[in-house]
Amino acid sequence: MTFDRSIKIAPSILSADFANFGQEIAAIEAQGCDWVHVDVMDGHFVPNLTFGPPLCAAIRPHIKTVMDVHLMISPVDQYIEAYAAAGADVITAHAEAGPHTHRTMQAIRASGAKAGLALNPATPPEAVEYLLDMIDLVCVMTVNPGFGGQKFIHSQVQKVARLRTMIGDREIHIQIDGGVTPETAPLVARAGADVLVAGSAVFKGGSVANPAPYGENIRAIRSAATGV
Ligand code: DX5
Ligand code: ZN
Repeated sequence: MTFDRSIKIAPSILSADFANFGQEIAAIEAQGCDWVHVDVMDGHFVPNLTFGPPLCAAIRPHIKTVMDVHLMISPVDQYIEAYAAAGADVITAHAEAGPHTHRTMQAIRASGAKAGLALNPATPPEAVEYLLDMIDLVCVMTVNPGFGGQKFIHSQVQKVARLRTMIGDREIHIQIDGGVTPETAPLVARAGADVLVAGSAVFKGGSVANPAPYGENIRAIRSAATGV
């Protein structure tokens, strides 16, 4: 993975057809997505349950771009190796998932994956301040994690701008997760975000049998974010 700050669209397969992950991934990649976002939920840190390491390992061969695994689980440290072994390129853990975020980021990098730190809407940007030299991505949650299809929380745009200033020239992506649409994408792109996760806004209107809407949706978000 080479670093750049161009806009990248990362569809969340939480909004895909769960009976058809291989074909759904092939469809969104053929339609122009940049990363594939995999939402892992434990029914404890968030009130929903999704994928374990075997599912991630099973879909890995279908992902030709970047496998971006978002761990909404607590505790997290003892599962990092399993998600790295499943082939995650990026592993993101939450600042709120435990008291030892520094150790968690060390463990992710030691596993060979890029390290991401996610911040819930109530968590201040200063939570990353002492971790800036050990992370590759900060994920700003623009909804409360747990479900797709929620409404974008506008107060987070200011958090993105503050993070962008804190990051300076460091090679750290700013990812946005939750409620990204062609309407909200330009707000966070202008504030300094470069990786836009979108579930419902990418998958709406399409299917593996009719993937063209995926491409239209991806292009609509990208062009809104880049001002094209
Ligand atoms: C929320 C997940 C998101 C979610 C985004 O807990 O982390 O990745 O799937 O879905 P939309 O784009 O529908 O808000
Ligand atoms: Zn996510």
